[in-house]
Amino acid sequence: MSTSTTSTSTPEAVRRNARPYLHGPEMAAMAAAMEAGQYGHGPQADLFEQELADYLGVPDVVAVSCATVGIHLALQVCGVGPGTEVIVPSQTFAATIQPIVALGAAPRFIDHSPDTLCVEPKAVREAITPATRAVLPVLYGGRPIDLTGIVPELRRRNIHIVEDAAQAFGSRRTEGPATTVYSFGPIKQLTALVGGAIVPRTGEEAESLRQMRSLGITSSQADRIRTTTYSVRGPGLRGVLPDVNAAVGRIQLARFDEVAALRTSLWKAYAHALDGASGVALVDVGADAVPFNCVVRVPGRDRVHRIMRDRGIGVGVHYPPNHLQPAFARWTRSLPITERAAGEILSLPFHPAMTPDDARWTAAALLEALADASR
Ligand SMILES: Cc1ncc(COP(=O)(O)O)c(C=O)c1O
Repeated sequence: MSTSTTSTSTPEAVRRNARPYLHGPEMAAMAAAMEAGQYGHGPQADLFEQELADYLGVPDVVAVSCATVGIHLALQVCGVGPGTEVIVPSQTFAATIQPIVALGAAPRFIDHSPDTLCVEPKAVREAITPATRAVLPVLYGGRPIDLTGIVPELRRRNIHIVEDAAQAFGSRRTEGPATTVYSFGPIKQLTALVGGAIVPRTGEEAESLRQMRSLGITSSQADRIRTTTYSVRGPGLRGVLPDVNAAVGRIQLARFDEVAALRTSLWKAYAHALDGASGVALVDVGADAVPFNCVVRVPGRDRVHRIMRDRGIGVGVHYPPNHLQPAFARWTRSLPITERAAGEILSLPFHPAMTPDDARWTAAALLEALADASR
């Protein structure tokens, strides 16, 4: 394919580099964890929690099996359940919404800012009702969200903030008002293959979350095998992070700064290559993010998507909006900004192994696809 840039990358190189990113020692760490014979939550998960807390500069972190379970538990600990509402953007993965519904609560969908695809304090405030128990902002693409301006009002009304930071490990976080949930899924900034973690607000919350991720059982797995009984004290899921996954996460965390730098430079390469390009608007993640993806808004998105896919370029759409999904039809409402964005957003291939040259090649391919789509 001819391109309008000086990139020397190739479609094969882009395809080869567009995949989950491992450093190498993860395989040996997994094997060692398997040989240790502890397949549930064990010493690796304990160490991972401690190292995550040190890295984030917080007192405690609770590892969980994935962010979906983390969101479920974090909402439940805030009292989300039947008769309550959770304010949430429609523009997110279905994994943000399903825990609300599973808890018997109602998602109250809101629009996002057209520039950031993230919620803003004003829209959150306007959506509050007497039933609101929590706000669930989504750090789309890794972009931090600052709700500080409405925190006093939320506190006064006993409304909790649970951040869906599944896409935002490494981005700046506001200490204090929110319970934050990270994902360590396959293509996240930090991968444990699958996994997640919660940053609790208090020691009490941490204790409840640990109990809830272990089926509501108060004693640890290690203690349980030494006694003849145990106590189930409340609700819970099977939500621990297995040691094998924690072992992978520990390797990734030790080298996280390397990945953060690669992601930032890849994002900048895309931004530079698309700067001033007509018909393409880049969704900025801001200076405080470790970018998760690179999303553009383009006219005729479906055609552009098809042309790019036909040329073997791994573009995607994150996400079809939730308020229009059949499973969430009960809670649908008109969200014009989300609906417009939904027809325009396109995620470009974005993986740390990709080089700036790969980004330039992909950006040029996008411009060609745009021109072809408008013919
Ligand atoms: C915004 C968002 N929320 C939640 C999740 C769920 O994360 P997990 O796969 O760890 O359950 C994802 C995963 O892709 C996500 O992107």
